[in-house]
Amino acid sequence: MANAKVNLFSICIVVVLMQLGTFVVVGKPIVPCYFIFGDSLVDSGNNNELKTAAKANYPPYGIDFPQGVTGRFTNGRTMADVIGELLDFDEYIPTYATVTDQQINRGVNYASGAAGIRDETGSHLGGRISLDRQLHNHYSTVSRLFKLQRNKTFTGEYLQKCIYVVNIGSNDYINNYLKPTFYTTSHMYTTKKYAKVLVRQYSKQLKCLYDLGARKIVVFGLGPVGCTPAEISIFGTDGDSCVESINDAVKQFNDRLKPLVDELNLDNLDAKFTFINLTSISLQQQGLGVLNGPCCQVRADGQCVQNTHICPIRALSIYYDGFHPTDIANTHIATTSFNAVSPMDASPYDISHLIRL
Ligand SMILES: *[C@@H]1O[C@H](CO)[C@@H](O)[C@H](O)[C@H]1NC(C)=O
Ligand SMILES: *[C@@H]1O[C@H](CO)[C@@H](O)[C@H](O)[C@H]1NC(C)=O
Repeated sequence: MANAKVNLFSICIVVVLMQLGTFVVVGKPIVPCYFIFGDSLVDSGNNNELKTAAKANYPPYGIDFPQGVTGRFTNGRTMADVIGELLDFDEYIPTYATVTDQQINRGVNYASGAAGIRDETGSHLGGRISLDRQLHNHYSTVSRLFKLQRNKTFTGEYLQKCIYVVNIGSNDYINNYLKPTFYTTSHMYTTKKYAKVLVRQYSKQLKCLYDLGARKIVVFGLGPVGCTPAEISIFGTDGDSCVESINDAVKQFNDRLKPLVDELNLDNLDAKFTFINLTSISLQQQGLGVLNGPCCQVRADGQCVQNTHICPIRALSIYYDGFHPTDIANTHIATTSFNAVSPMDASPYDISHLIRL
């Protein structure tokens, strides 16, 4: 009898330890927490419950992702997912829509497909969480952390150690300026003035992130939007390989964003902002000799047709649909932003240096 009791007891202990093991016995991430802001390039499912055409929670999205369809706008991982792996997080950062009290101290993903720096951006597609709203949601997270951790000093110091990635602005072109029938911006501004107006608003938003305690902030510049299959099919290339007028417009934004990052570093000496040059990183990809067309059959809005036939070897394509990079392209972007190949890729720091500062 006594023996049976002992055995039962030890079995319970083993079961409890095994259950703990699946959560606790894992490598520690390099930083305690990681927050993600942005659009469909880094959205991992925040749009699933929204009424919008800009969602990706259907096949063939997620075909190469361990959990299958999640709302990620790609076949596998986003660039934010891969950065999370390089930071040694054992799980992907949960969406704001689903994050629990147990998970929230590791970080939150606020990103939303079709969202922009400007509030109206993407509205013709339906609901989306603009950058202002994402910052508002982060304010709620910070309040929640202050309550959960019950020590203001501790939470303040904790938030300073996190990595914050912001990847937004493409939709302020794709789903705003370049859609003159839905939006007034191209009637109001030249591309030069628009870049200036966008960067001025972005500047306030990054300052707001700083005010919410962020001190290590990675700001992604815009990639070559004029080289996406969707923009090429809408505007044509006039013999070039990309829509140069779009790349020129986007370049004006990038050329103002990098000096903004330098300025933010000068004005806030206790913070480190860094700029990732997606144009330079993408140029290296073109050199890899991979395919430029979309991997799935695309709808008029550039997203995959549901259950469509897809290319058999995703690793040969840069674009999965009309706009979004494949897992392999995202991996290249993430690893290069983590460990820059050329000084042009990340300035003043790549992410591997930023985490050590
Ligand atoms: C609050 O956190 C700070 C910083 O981690 C620590 O030094 C202090 O002892 C904590 N206070 C309490 C009451 O636990
Ligand atoms: C990004 O890299 C490209 C290619 O190397 C370069 O021409 C461009 O000036 C860079 N942009 C910024 C804002 O530094």
